[in-house]
Amino acid sequence: MGVDKSKILENGYIDMPVEQLLDLREEIKKLKRKKNAVILAHYYEDAAVQDIADYVGDSLDLSRKAAETNAQIIVFAGVHFMAETAKILSPKKKVILPHLKAGCSLADSCPFNEFKKFIERHAGHTIISYINTTADIKTVTDIACTSSNAMKIVQSLPEKEKILFGPDKNLGEYIRKKTGRDMVIWNGHCHVHQQFSVERIQGIVKKYPAARIVAHPECNQEIQEMAVYIGSTSQMLRFVQEDDGNIYIIATEPGIIHQMKKSKPEKTYIPAPPEDRSKDSSICEYMKMVDLKKLYLSLTYELPEITLEEETIEKAARPIHRMLEISEKYGI
Ligand code: 13P
Ligand code: SF4
Repeated sequence: MGVDKSKILENGYIDMPVEQLLDLREEIKKLKRKKNAVILAHYYEDAAVQDIADYVGDSLDLSRKAAETNAQIIVFAGVHFMAETAKILSPKKKVILPHLKAGCSLADSCPFNEFKKFIERHAGHTIISYINTTADIKTVTDIACTSSNAMKIVQSLPEKEKILFGPDKNLGEYIRKKTGRDMVIWNGHCHVHQQFSVERIQGIVKKYPAARIVAHPECNQEIQEMAVYIGSTSQMLRFVQEDDGNIYIIATEPGIIHQMKKSKPEKTYIPAPPEDRSKDSSICEYMKMVDLKKLYLSLTYELPEITLEEETIEKAARPIHRMLEISEKYGI
């Protein structure tokens, strides 16, 4: 299509009036078929985006799908590090991120040069990095992990092995406590999970004494201590499906509640509120940058595309493949 790419990408995404003219859902479906494209969406995306996606999942599920897909184009309805991971795992495919500025505060809390110095200060440690990092961080990592498999990956290493874990301090501390392993932990966090209010959650429990708190391990320790269950987004989803409770306080980004409601509509889900009393839930603004219009336009123009140096892909792929191998071995 004859367009000036630099102009349409001015904002980091393509913008032009289309929504009054088209049934975006139908057009997206047509484009996916025509271009042999697949849409992968994280649980934190808007409900409409989750519903049009071919696969919805957590970071581990989505990286597996990106590695396995036969599609020519992967459109990632998620954030930048997820689309980079898809590119690393499927370098020959075109990977599209509908809004290039969909970043991640956790990945941002781990700048490459400082993390490299941290590694140098801890020679002899095995480097385990959460998938929520840039491709550059992955090039200096031994094994990647997600919140679904981080515990098993740490446990899979010999007892005496010294571990450097980054960048999420809450997930790292959670694993250190559970495993008793020798771990140094980078001091990073996610702003969405860091801001839940103990006091406001207690207020909800007072009102609904049967409410069970389910938390993501990126939440800080106080919130983790209040929870009946701690797990990744897909593990949280499975927990509420299988548990015999009826009312839950969900301490993660509230996008996941869409799938909870779909699978168990008879239960009640209350998003954990943040410290900021003007808000009822802790939204990840990066995850909400993708909408149907951006999906449609990015599929039409096959932009913005994720590109990485060959050497970066080669080095960053190693820790991700190790993660996938260990996960497979343990049936995660
Ligand atoms: P999971 O979906 O892997 O639990 O990760 C949560 C997250 O914060 C993704 O950005
Ligand atoms: Fe990053 Fe937090 Fe948003 Fe997940 S929820 S993408 S960790 S900022």
